[in-house]
Amino acid sequence: MRAMNASDNYMTVPEENINYIAAMDIGSNKISLSIGQTLDGRFDALLGVVHHQCQGITSGRITNLEAVTATIRKLLCEAIEIIGFSVTEVFVGITDPEIAVHRNTAMVAVAGDSITSEDIADVLEAAETAMPLRENEAILHVIPEQFLVNGHPVDDPVGRSGVRLDVETTVLTVPRSSIVNVDRVCRAAGLTVRDIFFSPLGTLQAVTHPRQRQLGVLLLDIGAGTTDVVMMEGDRLRYCDVVPIGGQSFTESLANGLRCLREEAETIKIKCGMASPAYLNNPDLAVDSSLLCGSAPVTYGQVSHILESRISEILHIALNRLHYAGIGLTAPHSIVITGGTAQLNGLRAFIQELIELPVEVGFANLPAGMFDLARQPVFSSSVGLVMYASTHDQGHSPRMTVQMTEKKNNNVFKKLADFFGGFFD
Ligand SMILES: Nc1ncnc2c1ncn2[C@@H]1O[C@H](COP(=O)(O)OP(=O)(O)OP(=O)(O)O)[C@@H](O)[C@H]1O
Ligand SMILES: [Mg+2]
Repeated sequence: MRAMNASDNYMTVPEENINYIAAMDIGSNKISLSIGQTLDGRFDALLGVVHHQCQGITSGRITNLEAVTATIRKLLCEAIEIIGFSVTEVFVGITDPEIAVHRNTAMVAVAGDSITSEDIADVLEAAETAMPLRENEAILHVIPEQFLVNGHPVDDPVGRSGVRLDVETTVLTVPRSSIVNVDRVCRAAGLTVRDIFFSPLGTLQAVTHPRQRQLGVLLLDIGAGTTDVVMMEGDRLRYCDVVPIGGQSFTESLANGLRCLREEAETIKIKCGMASPAYLNNPDLAVDSSLLCGSAPVTYGQVSHILESRISEILHIALNRLHYAGIGLTAPHSIVITGGTAQLNGLRAFIQELIELPVEVGFANLPAGMFDLARQPVFSSSVGLVMYASTHDQGHSPRMTVQMTEKKNNNVFKKLADFFGGFFD
Protein backbone atom coordinates (compact mmCIF):
# COMPACT_ATOMS: atom_id res chain seq x y z
CA MET A 1 0.00 0.00 0.00
CA ARG A 2 1.31 3.44 -0.88
CA ALA A 3 2.00 5.78 2.00
CA MET A 4 -0.36 8.73 2.12
CA ASN A 5 0.72 12.22 2.93
CA ALA A 6 -0.94 15.61 2.99
CA SER A 7 0.31 16.53 -0.50
CA ASP A 8 -2.01 13.85 -1.92
CA ASN A 9 -4.94 15.91 -0.74
CA TYR A 10 -3.76 18.95 -2.64
CA MET A 11 -4.45 17.18 -5.89
CA THR A 12 -8.19 17.08 -5.28
CA VAL A 13 -9.17 19.58 -2.60
CA PRO A 14 -9.33 23.35 -3.16
CA GLU A 15 -6.64 24.93 -0.99
CA GLU A 16 -8.99 27.45 0.60
CA ASN A 17 -10.80 24.58 2.37
CA ILE A 18 -7.61 23.33 3.98
CA ASN A 19 -6.24 24.78 7.18
CA TYR A 20 -3.42 23.82 9.51
CA ILE A 21 -3.73 23.69 13.22
CA ALA A 22 -1.13 23.33 15.99
CA ALA A 23 -1.84 21.97 19.45
CA MET A 24 0.54 21.73 22.36
CA ASP A 25 0.05 19.27 25.20
CA ILE A 26 1.75 20.29 28.43
CA GLY A 27 2.36 17.07 30.34
CA SER A 28 4.32 16.39 33.52
CA ASN A 29 6.94 14.41 31.62
CA LYS A 30 6.88 15.84 28.11
CA ILE A 31 5.57 18.73 26.08
CA SER A 32 4.39 17.81 22.61
CA LEU A 33 3.44 19.88 19.61
CA SER A 34 1.11 18.29 17.07
CA ILE A 35 0.29 19.67 13.66
CA GLY A 36 -2.94 18.66 11.99
CA GLN A 37 -4.75 19.45 8.80
CA THR A 38 -8.40 20.42 8.80
CA LEU A 39 -10.69 20.23 5.82
CA ASP A 40 -13.86 22.32 5.78
CA GLY A 41 -13.41 22.88 9.50
CA ARG A 42 -13.07 19.19 10.39
CA PHE A 43 -10.02 17.20 11.43
CA ASP A 44 -8.60 15.62 8.31
CA ALA A 45 -5.08 14.38 8.98
CA LEU A 46 -2.29 14.36 11.49
CA LEU A 47 0.82 15.82 9.89
CA GLY A 48 3.29 15.26 12.70
CA VAL A 49 4.11 15.36 16.39
CA VAL A 50 7.32 16.56 18.02
CA HIS A 51 7.95 16.22 21.73
CA HIS A 52 10.53 16.88 24.40
CA GLN A 53 10.91 15.86 28.00
CA CYS A 54 10.63 18.85 30.33
CA GLN A 55 11.53 19.19 34.00
CA GLY A 56 9.46 22.33 34.58
CA ILE A 57 6.03 20.74 35.16
CA THR A 58 4.77 19.11 38.34
CA SER A 59 1.48 17.21 38.37
CA GLY A 60 0.43 19.02 35.19
CA ARG A 61 1.31 22.50 36.51
CA ILE A 62 4.06 24.74 35.19
CA THR A 63 6.52 25.20 38.03
CA ASN A 64 9.57 26.42 36.11
CA LEU A 65 8.69 29.04 33.50
CA GLU A 66 12.21 29.23 32.01
CA ALA A 67 12.53 25.47 31.52
CA VAL A 68 9.12 25.23 29.86
CA THR A 69 9.81 28.24 27.61
CA ALA A 70 13.12 26.72 26.51
CA THR A 71 11.41 23.41 25.70
CA ILE A 72 8.70 25.16 23.66
CA ARG A 73 11.36 27.05 21.70
CA LYS A 74 13.06 23.74 20.88
CA LEU A 75 9.75 22.27 19.75
CA LEU A 76 9.08 25.22 17.46
CA CYS A 77 12.47 24.71 15.79
CA GLU A 78 11.79 20.99 15.42
CA ALA A 79 8.35 21.66 13.97
CA ILE A 80 10.14 23.52 11.17
CA GLU A 81 13.01 21.05 10.77
CA ILE A 82 11.08 17.81 11.12
CA ILE A 83 7.51 18.50 10.05
CA GLY A 84 8.17 21.54 7.87
CA PHE A 85 5.77 23.95 9.60
CA SER A 86 6.37 27.29 11.24
CA VAL A 87 3.95 27.87 14.11
CA THR A 88 2.95 31.22 15.58
CA GLU A 89 -0.38 30.32 17.21
CA VAL A 90 -1.32 27.25 19.25
CA PHE A 91 -4.11 25.58 21.08
CA VAL A 92 -2.83 24.39 24.43
CA GLY A 93 -3.97 21.38 26.45
CA ILE A 94 -3.52 21.33 30.21
CA THR A 95 -4.57 19.26 33.18
CA ASP A 96 -4.72 20.51 36.73
CA PRO A 97 -5.41 18.69 40.01
CA GLU A 98 -7.72 21.57 40.96
CA ILE A 99 -10.00 21.16 37.95
CA ALA A 100 -13.57 21.79 39.15
CA VAL A 101 -16.84 20.88 37.46
CA HIS A 102 -19.89 23.13 37.89
CA ARG A 103 -23.38 22.97 36.44
CA ASN A 104 -24.91 26.26 35.42
CA THR A 105 -27.94 27.58 33.53
CA ALA A 106 -28.58 30.80 31.63
CA MET A 107 -31.34 32.38 29.59
CA VAL A 108 -31.61 35.03 26.88
CA ALA A 109 -34.61 36.59 25.15
CA VAL A 110 -34.65 35.88 21.41
CA ALA A 111 -34.83 39.12 19.46
CA GLY A 112 -35.49 37.91 15.89
CA ASP A 113 -38.04 35.59 14.27
CA SER A 114 -35.86 32.52 14.76
CA ILE A 115 -32.84 31.54 16.83
CA THR A 116 -29.45 32.31 15.29
CA SER A 117 -25.91 31.25 16.13
CA GLU A 118 -25.51 34.71 17.71
CA ASP A 119 -28.28 33.82 20.19
CA ILE A 120 -26.38 30.62 21.01
CA ALA A 121 -23.17 32.61 21.56
CA ASP A 122 -25.11 35.09 23.73
CA VAL A 123 -26.66 32.44 25.96
CA LEU A 124 -23.31 30.69 26.40
CA GLU A 125 -21.70 34.01 27.25
CA ALA A 126 -24.49 34.62 29.76
CA ALA A 127 -23.74 31.21 31.34
CA GLU A 128 -20.07 32.14 31.56
CA THR A 129 -20.73 35.60 33.01
CA ALA A 130 -23.26 34.32 35.54
CA MET A 131 -20.87 31.69 36.91
CA PRO A 132 -19.87 32.66 40.46
CA LEU A 133 -16.11 32.12 40.76
CA ARG A 134 -13.77 31.88 43.74
CA GLU A 135 -10.72 34.11 43.88
CA ASN A 136 -8.04 32.77 41.51
CA GLU A 137 -10.58 30.53 39.74
CA ALA A 138 -10.85 30.85 35.95
CA ILE A 139 -13.20 29.27 33.44
CA LEU A 140 -11.62 26.80 31.02
CA HIS A 141 -14.74 25.47 29.26
CA VAL A 142 -18.43 26.23 29.06
CA ILE A 143 -19.93 23.09 27.55
CA PRO A 144 -23.59 23.27 26.50
CA GLU A 145 -25.41 20.15 27.66
CA GLN A 146 -29.01 20.98 26.80
CA PHE A 147 -30.74 23.85 25.01
CA LEU A 148 -34.37 24.72 25.71
CA VAL A 149 -36.55 26.82 23.41
CA ASN A 150 -39.56 28.29 25.21
CA GLY A 151 -38.85 25.74 27.96
CA HIS A 152 -38.74 22.69 25.64
CA PRO A 153 -35.51 20.68 25.18
CA VAL A 154 -34.16 20.74 21.60
CA ASP A 155 -30.99 19.27 20.13
CA ASP A 156 -30.18 22.14 17.77
CA PRO A 157 -32.01 25.40 18.43
CA VAL A 158 -30.65 27.29 15.38
CA GLY A 159 -33.52 28.14 13.02
CA ARG A 160 -36.25 27.39 15.58
CA SER A 161 -38.73 30.08 16.46
CA GLY A 162 -39.18 31.05 20.08
CA VAL A 163 -38.99 33.97 22.46
CA ARG A 164 -36.74 32.44 25.09
CA LEU A 165 -33.55 30.40 24.82
CA ASP A 166 -32.20 28.56 27.87
CA VAL A 167 -29.05 26.52 28.20
CA GLU A 168 -27.83 24.03 30.79
CA THR A 169 -24.05 23.95 30.85
CA THR A 170 -21.14 22.17 32.40
CA VAL A 171 -18.46 24.67 33.36
CA LEU A 172 -14.87 23.54 33.97
CA THR A 173 -12.61 25.80 36.00
CA VAL A 174 -8.94 25.75 36.98
CA PRO A 175 -6.78 28.09 39.06
CA ARG A 176 -6.23 31.34 37.17
CA SER A 177 -2.48 31.01 37.73
CA SER A 178 -2.42 27.85 35.56
CA ILE A 179 -3.83 29.78 32.61
CA VAL A 180 -1.61 32.80 33.22
CA ASN A 181 1.49 30.60 33.28
CA VAL A 182 0.57 28.93 29.98
CA ASP A 183 0.15 32.34 28.43
CA ARG A 184 3.48 33.53 29.86
CA VAL A 185 5.57 30.62 28.57
CA CYS A 186 3.93 30.74 25.15
CA ARG A 187 4.46 34.49 24.80
CA ALA A 188 8.06 34.15 25.94
CA ALA A 189 8.57 31.54 23.21
CA GLY A 190 6.95 33.86 20.63
CA LEU A 191 3.60 32.07 20.45
CA THR A 192 0.06 33.36 20.70
CA VAL A 193 -2.34 31.12 22.60
CA ARG A 194 -5.47 30.65 20.53
CA ASP A 195 -7.34 28.72 23.22
CA ILE A 196 -6.67 26.51 26.23
CA PHE A 197 -8.42 23.16 26.62
CA PHE A 198 -8.70 20.55 29.34
CA SER A 199 -6.47 18.03 27.65
CA PRO A 200 -8.48 14.85 28.50
CA LEU A 201 -11.42 16.16 26.45
CA GLY A 202 -9.21 15.79 23.40
CA THR A 203 -7.91 12.42 24.53
CA LEU A 204 -11.49 11.22 24.89
CA GLN A 205 -12.24 12.27 21.32
CA ALA A 206 -9.12 10.51 20.05
CA VAL A 207 -9.41 7.13 21.78
CA THR A 208 -13.12 6.44 22.27
CA HIS A 209 -15.94 5.83 19.81
CA PRO A 210 -19.38 7.52 19.75
CA ARG A 211 -21.06 4.25 20.77
CA GLN A 212 -18.82 3.92 23.84
CA ARG A 213 -19.56 7.53 24.77
CA GLN A 214 -23.30 6.87 24.47
CA LEU A 215 -23.19 3.74 26.62
CA GLY A 216 -20.87 5.32 29.17
CA VAL A 217 -17.10 5.30 29.20
CA LEU A 218 -14.61 6.14 31.90
CA LEU A 219 -11.31 7.36 30.50
CA LEU A 220 -8.18 7.11 32.63
CA ASP A 221 -5.24 8.96 31.07
CA ILE A 222 -2.44 7.71 33.29
CA GLY A 223 0.53 9.92 32.51
CA ALA A 224 3.70 10.70 34.43
CA GLY A 225 2.46 13.08 37.12
CA THR A 226 -1.32 12.86 36.88
CA THR A 227 -4.15 10.45 36.20
CA ASP A 228 -6.87 12.32 34.34
CA VAL A 229 -10.34 10.90 34.83
CA VAL A 230 -13.21 11.75 32.50
CA MET A 231 -16.60 10.08 32.22
CA MET A 232 -18.99 10.47 29.29
CA GLU A 233 -22.46 8.94 29.17
CA GLY A 234 -25.31 9.57 26.75
CA ASP A 235 -22.74 11.68 24.89
CA ARG A 236 -22.63 14.08 27.82
CA LEU A 237 -19.70 14.91 30.02
CA ARG A 238 -20.64 13.55 33.43
CA TYR A 239 -17.43 13.85 35.37
CA CYS A 240 -13.87 15.22 35.32
CA ASP A 241 -11.09 14.79 37.84
CA VAL A 242 -7.31 14.88 38.00
CA VAL A 243 -5.54 12.64 40.53
CA PRO A 244 -2.04 14.05 41.07
CA ILE A 245 -0.32 10.66 40.81
CA GLY A 246 1.03 8.93 37.71
CA GLY A 247 3.85 6.76 36.43
CA GLN A 248 6.59 8.91 37.98
CA SER A 249 5.43 7.76 41.41
CA PHE A 250 5.67 4.12 40.21
CA THR A 251 9.32 4.73 39.35
CA GLU A 252 9.99 6.52 42.64
CA SER A 253 8.38 3.71 44.67
CA LEU A 254 10.43 1.12 42.78
CA ALA A 255 13.63 3.11 43.37
CA ASN A 256 12.87 3.35 47.09
CA GLY A 257 11.58 -0.19 47.51
CA LEU A 258 14.34 -1.88 45.52
CA ARG A 259 17.06 0.55 46.71
CA CYS A 260 18.20 1.28 43.22
CA LEU A 261 18.77 4.32 41.01
CA ARG A 262 15.78 6.11 39.49
CA GLU A 263 17.03 5.30 35.99
CA GLU A 264 17.30 1.61 36.92
CA ALA A 265 13.81 1.70 38.43
CA GLU A 266 12.41 3.28 35.21
CA THR A 267 14.02 0.53 33.10
CA ILE A 268 12.70 -2.19 35.41
CA LYS A 269 9.21 -0.66 35.28
CA ILE A 270 9.16 -0.62 31.49
CA LYS A 271 10.90 -3.98 30.91
CA CYS A 272 9.38 -6.07 33.72
CA GLY A 273 6.00 -4.41 34.19
CA MET A 274 3.67 -5.71 36.86
CA ALA A 275 2.69 -9.15 35.64
CA SER A 276 5.03 -10.42 32.99
CA PRO A 277 4.50 -14.07 32.05
CA ALA A 278 7.72 -14.91 33.89
CA TYR A 279 6.33 -13.46 37.12
CA LEU A 280 2.96 -15.13 36.74
CA ASN A 281 4.71 -18.51 36.61
CA ASN A 282 7.30 -17.82 39.24
CA PRO A 283 7.20 -14.71 41.45
CA ASP A 284 10.57 -15.58 42.99
CA LEU A 285 12.30 -15.40 39.63
CA ALA A 286 15.09 -12.80 39.70
CA VAL A 287 14.94 -9.80 37.41
CA ASP A 288 17.82 -9.68 34.88
CA SER A 289 20.73 -8.40 37.02
CA SER A 290 22.15 -6.33 34.13
CA LEU A 291 19.21 -3.92 34.65
CA LEU A 292 20.45 -3.15 38.15
CA CYS A 293 24.14 -2.35 37.77
CA GLY A 294 25.28 -4.16 40.90
CA SER A 295 22.38 -3.68 43.36
CA ALA A 296 21.07 -6.64 45.35
CA PRO A 297 18.97 -9.17 43.35
CA VAL A 298 15.34 -8.26 42.81
CA THR A 299 12.45 -10.63 42.07
CA TYR A 300 9.50 -10.15 39.75
CA GLY A 301 7.31 -10.61 42.82
CA GLN A 302 8.85 -7.55 44.50
CA VAL A 303 8.47 -5.42 41.36
CA SER A 304 4.86 -6.39 40.85
CA HIS A 305 3.97 -5.93 44.50
CA ILE A 306 5.22 -2.32 44.43
CA LEU A 307 3.55 -1.49 41.12
CA GLU A 308 0.26 -3.10 42.13
CA SER A 309 0.11 -1.06 45.32
CA ARG A 310 0.66 2.21 43.40
CA ILE A 311 -1.95 1.49 40.75
CA SER A 312 -4.40 0.33 43.44
CA GLU A 313 -3.85 3.63 45.22
CA ILE A 314 -4.67 5.63 42.06
CA LEU A 315 -7.78 3.55 41.37
CA HIS A 316 -8.90 3.78 44.97
CA ILE A 317 -8.70 7.60 44.91
CA ALA A 318 -10.26 7.95 41.44
CA LEU A 319 -13.15 5.54 42.07
CA ASN A 320 -13.88 6.88 45.57
CA ARG A 321 -14.18 10.41 44.22
CA LEU A 322 -16.40 9.14 41.41
CA HIS A 323 -18.58 7.39 43.97
CA TYR A 324 -18.85 10.55 46.09
CA ALA A 325 -19.90 12.44 42.97
CA GLY A 326 -22.84 10.01 42.82
CA ILE A 327 -21.68 8.18 39.72
CA GLY A 328 -21.85 4.40 39.63
CA LEU A 329 -19.87 2.22 37.26
CA THR A 330 -21.91 -0.68 35.95
CA ALA A 331 -22.46 -2.51 32.65
CA PRO A 332 -22.73 -1.35 29.89
CA HIS A 333 -20.07 1.12 31.01
CA SER A 334 -16.54 0.45 29.87
CA ILE A 335 -13.12 1.73 30.85
CA VAL A 336 -10.41 2.99 28.53
CA ILE A 337 -6.89 3.49 29.84
CA THR A 338 -4.36 5.54 27.94
CA GLY A 339 -1.32 7.78 28.50
CA GLY A 340 2.26 6.55 28.83
CA THR A 341 1.61 4.48 31.95
CA ALA A 342 -1.21 2.57 30.21
CA GLN A 343 1.67 0.88 28.36
CA LEU A 344 2.71 -0.81 31.61
CA ASN A 345 2.84 -4.51 31.03
CA GLY A 346 -0.16 -6.25 32.63
CA LEU A 347 -1.95 -3.07 33.72
CA ARG A 348 -5.06 -3.52 31.58
CA ALA A 349 -5.71 -7.04 32.88
CA PHE A 350 -5.03 -5.97 36.47
CA ILE A 351 -7.59 -3.13 36.31
CA GLN A 352 -10.15 -5.32 34.55
CA GLU A 353 -9.88 -7.95 37.27
CA LEU A 354 -10.20 -5.33 39.99
CA ILE A 355 -13.14 -3.36 38.55
CA GLU A 356 -14.91 -6.24 36.77
CA LEU A 357 -15.77 -4.14 33.72
CA PRO A 358 -14.29 -4.34 30.23
CA VAL A 359 -11.03 -2.41 30.11
CA GLU A 360 -9.18 -1.57 26.93
CA VAL A 361 -6.03 0.35 26.14
CA GLY A 362 -6.92 3.48 24.16
CA PHE A 363 -5.05 4.14 20.93
CA ALA A 364 -5.68 7.31 18.92
CA ASN A 365 -8.21 6.72 16.21
CA LEU A 366 -5.86 7.29 13.25
CA PRO A 367 -5.35 5.18 10.15
CA ALA A 368 -2.98 2.31 10.92
CA GLY A 369 0.35 2.09 9.13
CA MET A 370 2.32 5.28 8.97
CA PHE A 371 0.61 6.67 12.08
CA ASP A 372 1.51 3.71 14.29
CA LEU A 373 4.05 5.64 16.34
CA ALA A 374 1.68 8.54 16.97
CA ARG A 375 -1.04 6.04 17.93
CA GLN A 376 0.95 4.93 20.97
CA PRO A 377 -0.99 5.67 24.20
CA VAL A 378 1.81 8.03 25.27
CA PHE A 379 0.68 10.37 22.45
CA SER A 380 -3.10 9.99 22.84
CA SER A 381 -3.49 13.44 24.36
CA SER A 382 -1.16 15.05 21.79
CA VAL A 383 -3.20 13.63 18.91
CA GLY A 384 -6.50 14.18 20.73
CA LEU A 385 -5.82 17.86 21.23
CA VAL A 386 -5.30 18.56 17.57
CA MET A 387 -8.54 16.67 16.81
CA TYR A 388 -10.42 18.56 19.52
CA ALA A 389 -9.00 21.92 18.42
CA SER A 390 -10.15 21.21 14.86
CA THR A 391 -13.75 20.87 15.97
CA HIS A 392 -13.76 23.50 18.73
CA ASP A 393 -11.94 26.32 17.01
CA GLN A 394 -13.71 29.50 18.07
CA GLY A 395 -11.00 31.70 16.60
CA HIS A 396 -11.40 34.34 13.97
CA SER A 397 -8.07 34.28 12.14
CA PRO A 398 -8.89 31.57 9.63
CA ARG A 399 -5.56 30.25 8.40
CA MET A 400 -1.83 30.44 8.09
CA THR A 401 -0.91 30.98 11.71
CA VAL A 402 0.58 27.55 11.12
CA GLN A 403 2.48 27.78 7.86
CA MET A 404 4.13 25.22 5.70
CA THR A 405 7.77 26.24 5.37
CA GLU A 406 8.51 24.16 2.30
CA LYS A 407 6.48 22.28 -0.27
CA LYS A 408 5.28 19.13 1.46
CA ASN A 409 8.06 16.70 2.04
CA ASN A 410 7.16 13.17 1.03
CA ASN A 411 9.48 11.85 3.68
CA VAL A 412 7.86 13.60 6.58
CA PHE A 413 6.61 10.38 8.14
CA LYS A 414 9.95 8.70 7.60
CA LYS A 415 11.61 11.64 9.36
CA LEU A 416 9.00 11.43 12.07
CA ALA A 417 9.59 7.72 12.51
CA ASP A 418 13.33 8.34 12.80
CA PHE A 419 12.63 11.00 15.36
CA PHE A 420 10.24 8.87 17.37
CA GLY A 421 12.59 5.92 17.08
CA GLY A 422 14.83 6.92 19.98
CA PHE A 423 11.85 7.52 22.21
CA PHE A 424 10.66 3.95 22.00
CA ASP A 425 14.03 2.23 22.33
N1 LIG B 1 6.13 0.87 28.38
C1 LIG B 1 5.88 1.56 29.48
N2 LIG B 1 5.57 0.93 30.63
C2 LIG B 1 5.31 1.64 31.74
N3 LIG B 1 5.34 2.98 31.83
C3 LIG B 1 5.65 3.65 30.72
C4 LIG B 1 5.93 3.00 29.49
N4 LIG B 1 6.21 3.95 28.56
C5 LIG B 1 6.10 5.15 29.18
N5 LIG B 1 5.77 4.97 30.48
C6 LIG B 1 5.58 6.00 31.51
O1 LIG B 1 4.65 6.95 31.03
C7 LIG B 1 4.87 8.19 31.69
C8 LIG B 1 4.78 9.30 30.68
O2 LIG B 1 3.45 9.31 30.21
P1 LIG B 1 2.86 10.57 29.43
O3 LIG B 1 3.79 10.99 28.38
O4 LIG B 1 1.47 10.19 29.05
O5 LIG B 1 2.86 11.65 30.59
P2 LIG B 1 2.63 13.21 30.46
O6 LIG B 1 1.50 13.46 29.53
O7 LIG B 1 3.91 13.91 30.17
O8 LIG B 1 2.26 13.60 31.95
P3 LIG B 1 0.85 13.89 32.66
O9 LIG B 1 -0.23 13.61 31.69
O10 LIG B 1 0.83 12.99 33.83
O11 LIG B 1 0.92 15.32 33.08
C9 LIG B 1 6.26 8.10 32.34
O12 LIG B 1 6.10 8.00 33.75
C10 LIG B 1 6.83 6.81 31.77
O13 LIG B 1 7.64 6.14 32.71
MG1 LIG C 1 -0.54 13.63 29.70
